[in-house]
This record gives sequence, structure tokens and C-alpha cells, in this order.
Amino acid sequence: MTQLQNPSPLAALDQANKSLASHPKGGISAPDQVTVTAVTHWTDKLFSFQTDRPPGFRFQSGEFAMIGLVDDEGKAVTRAYSIASPHWDDDLEFYSIIVPDGPLTSRLRHVQIGDKIILRPKTTGTLGLARLRDGQRLYLLATGTGFAPFAALIRDPEIYERFEQVILVHGCRTIAELGYSQKIVADSRAHPLIGEMVTRQLHYVPSVTRENFTQTGRITTLLADGKLASSLSLPPLDPAFDRIMICGSIGLNQDIAAQLLEKNFHEGNLSSPGDYVIERAFVGDGI
Ligand code: FAD
Ligand code: A2P
Repeated sequence: MTQLQNPSPLAALDQANKSLASHPKGGISAPDQVTVTAVTHWTDKLFSFQTDRPPGFRFQSGEFAMIGLVDDEGKAVTRAYSIASPHWDDDLEFYSIIVPDGPLTSRLRHVQIGDKIILRPKTTGTLGLARLRDGQRLYLLATGTGFAPFAALIRDPEIYERFEQVILVHGCRTIAELGYSQKIVADSRAHPLIGEMVTRQLHYVPSVTRENFTQTGRITTLLADGKLASSLSLPPLDPAFDRIMICGSIGLNQDIAAQLLEKNFHEGNLSSPGDYVIERAFVGDGI
């Protein structure tokens, strides 16, 4: 059986987090705090925000960190968040769901400019270019907030150096839920430094499942019936040329991995770079 996700990065962060949380001052030292500099609400369930970036906070595009808030009892409540900004950016950006009763997001949804957020210094993740073999095309497949790591990667010049074409597919229920990815792609195309590469090499395929739109259907269906490749005039998926990053719910991740296995794609890791890599966009779905 294929291992869908190596749990060790999250476990390592959890461990780091627990040891910080047991610190006498609740584990929040000044370097673990950042200040919110911008907030945008996209729907009643989705928002993004930016923070300043502590000097020395380094990460690879596509990685995640633990961020959070202090609760009413002074305890740090932190969760894994993909960093949506690329590694070269002066600011940090995050894209967040709102879970109405969620321990973190029921409060994080109210953050405003000037508020302090906890940001743990360790970053990790499996959506790294170093885990993929060279290839011609890179497919980035996301649903919902799973777009966040790709918001970083599509703004990283390295992917355009490694791959001739980058195909970003973002699946959501409604058109409104595409608002953030549409804005990031539009801004990236207009960016003075990366805009030319993005315009030339990035194909953006937004798709919705519960409304009429220019592209409808689940990512799994678009892949299985070959519609995705054919709509872009690309050949069918082939492990000789295509590399894939996946970030969504456990169901999406499993369903795509099953399709890729049938086509003889191999999951990559650092010691043995492969054809595809997977990250969960969240922990849930009864696991
Ligand atoms: P929790 O108690 O953490 O979650 C409650 C339930 O809400 C979960 O069981 C699940 O069913 C559902 N849920 C949680 N997060 C999501 C989500 N993002 N989309 C759909 N349903 C969800 N969340 C983000 O919003 N943005 C990110 O960039 C992000 N990156 C993550 C990266 C990794 C590697 C992992 C493991 C999770 C990531 N998450 C992200 C999820 C995040 O860690 C929290 O679960 C989320 O912020 C909700 O926190 P909470 O305390 O309010 O609720
Ligand atoms: P659908 O509307 O058919 O459920 P969610 O908001 O539940 O996280 O879903 C985000 C998007 O991911 C929706 O378009 C949803 O389609 C789709 N989706 C959910 N589960 C899967 C899956 N197992 N495979 C492919 N797409 C999925």
C-alpha cells in the first residue's frame, strides 16, 4: 500500500510546539510573534492575511508552519498553516478556512491589522521541488485551502526554471471560493519580476462543482476523463514527462494517488525524488 502522506513533518512540528508550549511563559517568546499587516475576507468561510516576517525566518516555498493565538486562559492554540507567500517575499501570507466552532479559526477570523499572531519558527512539508524528478510539466492540484502552498510555489521562479509548463488546478464548490486564487494568479501575471515567466508558463484552471462556470467538475474527474489535458492541448498524463503536487482533503489525495498509481507514477521523497508528492490541506474526514 502506498503511504499517502509521511506524517513525520507534522509530528515533528507538533513536538516542537509542545515543548515550546510547556515553556514557563506559555511558550510565546517575542520571536514567535508576528504582527498582522493586512486582512481580506473572500467569503463568509475564507480569508487571507499578511504579517510581517521576523528576521531570520526562513522557509522553502510550499512549506507549512504552526501559527496561532493565545486563548483566554493564556494557552497557545496553534495549527499547521501553509505559507502562501513565496520564500523571497518580505511579508508572510496565510489563507484560512473559518470553522465556526474551530478552536483556532473561530477566533482567528476576527484578526485585524496590528494584532499579534503566534508563528513558530520551524517550517516543514512535503510539497518541495527537491522531492520531484526533473520533468517537462508540473501539475499543481488543489481543492479549497489546499491552494495555499501553491500560492507560494507559483510565485517561486525556481518552478519555471525546472518545468516548461506549470498547470495549476484549483477546485472549489462555488465561484466565490475561487476569489483568492484568481487574485493571486492575476497579481503574479502582472508582477514586475516574475510576471513574464508566469504569463508564459502557468496555466490556471479553476473549476467549481456546485455552480455553473466556464470549467465544472471535480479534479479527479477532469483527470480521469482526460478533459484537463485535452482542454489545454496537452498529452495525457505520462510519468516520463509529468510531475504532480497534490494538496486537498484526504479523500481527494487518496483518489488522485490511486489514479496516479494506475498510471505508474511513483511518490517522491528527499532521498528518492519521484513523480508526485502529496500534502493534506487539513486533518479531518474522520481520521
Ligand atoms: P480544527 O479543530 O483544527 O478543525 C476542525 C475541523 O474542520 C477538521 O476536523 C476538518 O474537518 C475541518 N477543517 C480544518 N481545516 C480545514 C480546511 N483548511 N479546509 C476545510 N476543512 C477544514 N488550514 C487553512 O485554513 N489554511 C492552510 O493553509 C492550512 N494548512 C494546513 C497544512 C497542513 C500540513 C495541515 C495538516 C493542516 C492545514 N490547515 C490549513 C488546517 C489547519 O491546521 C486547521 O485545522 C484549521 O485552521 C482549523 O483550525 P481550528 O482549530 O479552527 O479547527
Ligand atoms: P464536491 O462539491 O463534488 O463535493 P470542500 O469544500 O468539501 O473541501 O470541497 C472542495 C472541492 O473539492 C469541491 O469542489 C468538492 O467537490 C471537491 N472534492 C471533495 N472531495 C473530493 C474528492 N474525493 N475528489 C475530488 N474532489 C473532491
